Amino acid sequence: MHFNKKLLIPIVLISGVISLASMTLVNKQPIQERVDPPVTNLKVLPKHLTFKQVDHIMDNWAASLGVRCGFCHEPNANGKGMDFASDKKPEKQMAREMYQMAAKLNKKYFKGEKDSIGVAKLGSVNCYTCHQGVAHLEAATWPVRKHNMMPPPGAPKPQGTSDSTKH
Ligand code: HEC
Ligand code: HEC
Repeated sequence: MHFNKKLLIPIVLISGVISLASMTLVNKQPIQERVDPPVTNLKVLPKHLTFKQVDHIMDNWAASLGVRCGFCHEPNANGKGMDFASDKKPEKQMAREMYQMAAKLNKKYFKGEKDSIGVAKLGSVNCYTCHQGVAHLEAATWPVRKHNMMPPPGAPKPQGTSDSTKH
């Protein structure tokens, strides 16, 4: 095979210019880090938490209750996204009290500890311990779950089930 050495130098030069040009293009558009919104209204969680740290806790609360963020948070006035700092929804205030209750129970009756970012570890008693994916526990009739669970005393009998506990 005949290879034209005269062509090699221009090819190397041109490709060098192209790669330099693309590098400067890339440099002109620095990779933008997504800037998380500031966290401004923490009253029960440690105030220094970042958006990411709060978000992580929120995922856990939402999953424990079987709800999405909008159960406790108000949408923005323009309809786009959520106004997470707003205290408009009573569910948010209730969740604050629930967090404090659970933290107290862990502290008083179990080995209540704080994690590395100062959040009370809801270890033994956490949102899921009671809620098990159900938000409105006060309205839940037995059985709220499919687990084998004894009905609480005086609980309304589920309809259409035979009462085998009668004696
Ligand atoms: C069960 C209720 C509940 C659910 C569900 C919930 N949150 Fe929250 N969220 C709260 C409470 C309560 C606070 C305030 C905590 C405090 O006062 O320390 C809060 C605070 C926040 C904050 C901090 C806002 C600020 O500026 O102070 C962000 C961000 C947030 N939530 C995001 C989310 C996201 C994202 C979801 C869905 C994955 C979600 N939340 C689901 C109850 C909830
Ligand atoms: C010791 C059991 C227990 C734990 C732990 C618990 N909850 Fe609850 N929660 C309840 C009960 C019971 C209710 C119903 C209260 C009522 O209205 O009578 C409730 C109600 C709520 C409500 C109000 C729902 C509605 O009907 O509007 C929210 C929000 C909530 N819990 C969030 C949480 C979050 C978040 C956690 C964890 C930080 C948590 N709960 C941990 C027992 C618990």
